[in-house]
Amino acid sequence: MNSPLAGRRVLVTGAAGRIGSVTTRHLTELGSLVTALTIVEDPELKADRVIVGDTRSEDDVAAALADVDLVVHLAALAHPSAGTPYDVYSTNVVSTFNVLAQAGALGVKRAVVASSINAFGVPFNPHGIRPAYYPLDEKIPSDVADWYSLSKQNDENTCRMAWRQWGIDVVSFRFPHVNSADVLQRMADGHAKNPAAGVREGWSYLDTRDAARAIELGLTASLSGAHTFFVAADTTNAPYETEILLDAFAPGVPRLRRFVGREVPMDLTAARTVLGFQAQYELDLPTHELEI
Ligand SMILES: NC(=O)c1ccc[n+]([C@@H]2O[C@H](COP(=O)([O-])OP(=O)(O)OC[C@H]3O[C@@H](n4cnc5c(N)ncnc54)[C@H](O)[C@@H]3O)[C@@H](O)[C@H]2O)c1
Repeated sequence: MNSPLAGRRVLVTGAAGRIGSVTTRHLTELGSLVTALTIVEDPELKADRVIVGDTRSEDDVAAALADVDLVVHLAALAHPSAGTPYDVYSTNVVSTFNVLAQAGALGVKRAVVASSINAFGVPFNPHGIRPAYYPLDEKIPSDVADWYSLSKQNDENTCRMAWRQWGIDVVSFRFPHVNSADVLQRMADGHAKNPAAGVREGWSYLDTRDAARAIELGLTASLSGAHTFFVAADTTNAPYETEILLDAFAPGVPRLRRFVGREVPMDLTAARTVLGFQAQYELDLPTHELEI
């Protein structure tokens, strides 16, 4: 069956990045005509149009948006240490504002935006705090203490503002750690030795191919408004039972329900029911006894 994205013109910002390159390929395979906006030249990048430019620049974004139907905004400095605090914060919030404001004013109907699990602040909070509860969900209280998390929280506000101002539907994804299967496996090996490292993200992860599929569904799902979704694989990236992990590393944190086996302690209901998303690429991990 033909994808509803076949023949649609989609702008992907950050198209040469980890998620952007896989998304550009995926959308192209579905028949979309992708305009790839990238700040770095990348000979590997195959798209209908490639524009080398900066998402902070009004002129570059205007050129990239010419004749575009849909937008996928992924460009960002994707970690607190990816630049100075000023660069990380200003690049991310200015880029998201610039892309959504111009797309909205042009009458683009839908954008998908990369937020982050870090929008709730706890994973990068330097004070060792734990989430307010498990499973993590879109309403969990935030405790932001770094500029990257703050930029992602503000990006979610920008998405809502753009919808209210211009009526552009926006799907933003609170991605957990997203990577290729081999890198995710190495991360799981690390969590086997040091499971405490994953507690604040609920040991969540997502294969890059699943991120691209979530983005496809974000572009096509029947919805209106500005909505934020957690997306992750159904299981954790630690080879221990989730209840045992939480007993050991988050003993005082309320659990709103019980978790079965290695079930990820993240509420994926919204992504499943509204977008029809379920991850297809999961790590094949054993379940060991936890020894601490
Ligand atoms: N990969 C993850 O684990 C993860 C998790 C949560 C959220 N995210 C978010 O998903 C998005 C994509 O992340 P990624 O892992 O592909 O990161 P990445 O660093 O591989 O890709 C981001 C791309 O944006 C580009 N970029 C940065 N500043 C730019 C600018 N001013 N103009 C144009 N392009 C610019 C970079 O050159 C890079 O190619 C980011 O918004 C990131 O914050 C990623």
